[in-house]
Amino acid sequence: MSVDLEEMSAFFNNRALQYDSVHVATIDGGAESKRVLASFFPENAETLIDLGIGTGLELEAIFARFPDIRVTGYDIAEGMLKLLAEKYPGKTLDLRLESYLSADFGRGAYDAALSVMTLHHYGHEAKTAIYRKIFDCLRPGGVYIECDYILSDYEYDDPQKAEDEIFERCRQLRAEQSLDGGAEYHFDTPCTVGNQKKMLASAGFREIKEVWQIKNTIVLTATKQNNLESCRISSSP
Ligand SMILES: C[S@@+](CC[C@H](N)C(=O)[O-])C[C@H]1O[C@@H](n2cnc3c(N)ncnc32)[C@H](O)[C@@H]1O
Repeated sequence: MSVDLEEMSAFFNNRALQYDSVHVATIDGGAESKRVLASFFPENAETLIDLGIGTGLELEAIFARFPDIRVTGYDIAEGMLKLLAEKYPGKTLDLRLESYLSADFGRGAYDAALSVMTLHHYGHEAKTAIYRKIFDCLRPGGVYIECDYILSDYEYDDPQKAEDEIFERCRQLRAEQSLDGGAEYHFDTPCTVGNQKKMLASAGFREIKEVWQIKNTIVLTATKQNNLESCRISSSP
């Protein structure tokens, strides 16, 4: 079956009004996959960067645990951000209409970083570059939490084969539709758990763990160790 690929921000802007109900009803893990995320944050987190924040479904449980947390959120779909801005009056939200692929996140500023159901639209190269920027923008001891559509042996005997076939399908569709190489189009290209972990490790993260899973929705956490911990590891026999 052929699918017409839509430019990424247009895809989400066109669906923003129905997004909350449709998204939660269709993803593995449903609303629980958003609620569970706050439990993986470091104690006393004061600052959060959230990539592809959308309408902010994941923020409700985070604000319940950390009422005063300051959130910087990136998204390219203005319609999604508008709905988010109406949802949490009184909270400190810095919403940026900008792609996380090109944005500069700064250095050492955040206690926690989060991406929820967004990075499965991108390939290894883009993801690894994003993970490096996330690593740099976390303070030492900070934690990155990713909740996403990830390929595991839950559904696939050979997750790598499945990943290769999905990326090939994406390449074919883009070629058939003569799509602009510089723009992003909406198509799900999930990676295997093993590849996710390798990319996070190559960006500098340690303690990379699968902490939650319902079917194809998996939560990974990864820590930016402080200097003392890195010294301990590198000097241990
Ligand atoms: C499936 S929604 C997830 C929204 C929210 N995190 C959630 O879990 O409900 C994916 C979001 O990622 C955003 N997105 C996709 N590519 C992006 C990019 N390059 N930069 C910033 N946001 C992006 C989309 O606009 C959309 O709002």
